Amino acid sequence: MIRISDKQKEWIKKLLSQMTLEEKIGQMNQESVSIVGGFDVPFEELIEMVTDGRISQEAFEKIMSTAAQDYHEADIRAGRVGSLMVQNPRKCNELQKIAVEESRLGIPLLFGLDVIHGFRTVYPIAIAEACAFDMDLFERTARMAAKESRTQGVNWHFAPMLDVARDARWGRVSEGPGEDPYLVSCFARAKVRGLQNDTSSPENYVAACLKHFVAYGACEAGRDYNTVSMAHSMLCNNYLPPFAAAVEEGAATVMAAFHDLNGVPCTVNAGILRTMLKENYGFDGFVVSDANAIRECVTHGIAADEEAAGQTAVKAGLDMDMGTQIYKKHLKQAVADGRLSEKLIDEAVERILTVKMWLGLFEHPYVEERSMDRYEVLPREHLALAREAGCKSAVLLKNEGHLLPLHKKTKISLVGSLADKKEEVAGAWAISYRTNDCVSIKEGFENAGANVRYFPCGGPDTELEEEEIKKAASYGDVIVAVVGETAAMSGEAASKADLTLPGKQRELLEKLLATGKPVAVLLMNGRPLALHWEAEHIPAILECWQMGVEMGNAVADLVFGAVNPQGRLSVSFPQVTGQCPIYYNHPNTGRPGGKSKFTSRYLDVTEQPEFPFGFGLSYTEYQYHNLTVREEGDRLVVCVEVENTGTITGTETVQLYMRDVTASIVRPVKELKGFEKVTLEPGERREIILCLKKEEMGFYNNEGEYRLEDGVFTIYAGGNARDCLKQDLYITF
Ligand code: GLC
Repeated sequence: MIRISDKQKEWIKKLLSQMTLEEKIGQMNQESVSIVGGFDVPFEELIEMVTDGRISQEAFEKIMSTAAQDYHEADIRAGRVGSLMVQNPRKCNELQKIAVEESRLGIPLLFGLDVIHGFRTVYPIAIAEACAFDMDLFERTARMAAKESRTQGVNWHFAPMLDVARDARWGRVSEGPGEDPYLVSCFARAKVRGLQNDTSSPENYVAACLKHFVAYGACEAGRDYNTVSMAHSMLCNNYLPPFAAAVEEGAATVMAAFHDLNGVPCTVNAGILRTMLKENYGFDGFVVSDANAIRECVTHGIAADEEAAGQTAVKAGLDMDMGTQIYKKHLKQAVADGRLSEKLIDEAVERILTVKMWLGLFEHPYVEERSMDRYEVLPREHLALAREAGCKSAVLLKNEGHLLPLHKKTKISLVGSLADKKEEVAGAWAISYRTNDCVSIKEGFENAGANVRYFPCGGPDTELEEEEIKKAASYGDVIVAVVGETAAMSGEAASKADLTLPGKQRELLEKLLATGKPVAVLLMNGRPLALHWEAEHIPAILECWQMGVEMGNAVADLVFGAVNPQGRLSVSFPQVTGQCPIYYNHPNTGRPGGKSKFTSRYLDVTEQPEFPFGFGLSYTEYQYHNLTVREEGDRLVVCVEVENTGTITGTETVQLYMRDVTASIVRPVKELKGFEKVTLEPGERREIILCLKKEEMGFYNNEGEYRLEDGVFTIYAGGNARDCLKQDLYITF
């Protein structure tokens, strides 16, 4: 629930009663720079242009502020705008001044922006951060982003992105916390708390925006914006839970997704917006469309024209229009003609005003001049947090013969153009960072005092450089190859049909291996890749993802052993692209894949992933012992002993899974239901106790009923979704 006082609620109702219909509709109108600045480049394309380097970050910021300067100030003065996308504090104050001091009712503007994994201090992309399995970290990084952005005028983040994603062909798998509903729900709660809960000062918190509601990650064939069809039970058990959890944490806003869900675009889908979100979950914030999505309802074929799209959206419970001006242009006439009830407008506007009140915008509409430069130089504690997040997000996928960690004195040939590209460490959705704040892997190795020489040799989008390869082969005793994707190869509108290493990077690795020198691979990528050949041939593979501004230093900490990897995969990695979608929490089928022909398998590859959900190695080893499960009242108490059988201290993520063996609809072979991280000294053995409330062991059926059905359950505990101890027991509810 959005926490404002009864007095404030009364004040809002009074304000609403004073507003003209045009002023009410103005609150429902969010405009981006591209429309208002006379720029014919859609905002998303501006983002793309800065991401792929067609324009510099500085040029982008100039466009953002310049465009705002041309902004139709008359619209603000007339109360026809409720929100803008601008991230320049002085510009925000100038525009806010018009709204607050020159419009009839002085209603302040909301300034929204995509702040997905950091504002100035960019930290790991969500798929990576989720590998930390660390709720406290998720909350701390969000709080840092809220504080950095609020002093720059941004008081509304279009984050967290909570789309459960099981298909790595979809580029936006990089933006979300992975394939598991439980982990994504934990991430959701922590991010909402981090963004919203420090209300000690208006400079410390922003409105969160849960997106994209709902099931965007299930787009058919992994193709962005594509259609989504699924059983109601699948929606309720896998895609809705993170949103329900985040609403419970008090999230202020939700963004409806672009796609059609079972034939009805989310933008105009009353079943999910009104019924599920607002009525069933009791969501009392407001729903914003995705960019241009109301207009796209005509393209979808669900509305004959923009006017019809606008009306249908309002009726479905869509409170704010992002970027089309359809509400501004058509709703007034629709109400006048009796085609749309003003009551629906009032409901939407009351929700929007409630969020503005909760943000303190009526009392503190402006950014304090003294605060604007607070984060001009990134604070040490912010950089330390980004580095910590990077270290915790990395996943050690293979380490034959303990090739890693390396000694700093080891003569290293650092290979691969990604190692020297500062701009690539930030990932696809970093908008407000500065390239100069980023530490490349090459710089990180140098900062660590490593004995390293860098040889480009080629990368995801460049040809191989044979001479450089020869030099690299002869120089170092060990070759460290940084391969993967550019930031633009994942994220929005970046679906791929081939998940092997892009370009000639595989060929580069073959040449490096042919030198006979040991090769360690550092992956810089935004999605699971199909790495079967690499997993077979490369002795050491560290998944580093895109870690943000401190990437180079965090990777050096990991490669030289200052930090022992502790990340566990938030997504399954396929062996080959054709296996997608591939995920651990799948039904058993009547013929589970196996050796015999007539089972759910492929003729040409296994049905197993290369690396399963929850997987990750360490520089030490762990063993699990003595799993016991007992019922205690309304919960199960699961005990398991974990032992560090290696030679160095490590942090293990103990994972608790369950399986409902027989139920009125088939249930997954495993479902994550809990986890706990434990740091163990060499030789240390510790009992971990995890509790599972019996009420959380149920599922939704296709009628939307939550079912708790007596029967046999299998309880698992282990270090990933594949390798677990298990125990069966009969549960009665
Ligand atoms: C984009 C994305 C959404 C983002 C919005 C504003 O198209 O789908 O996640 O918040 O537009 O940039």
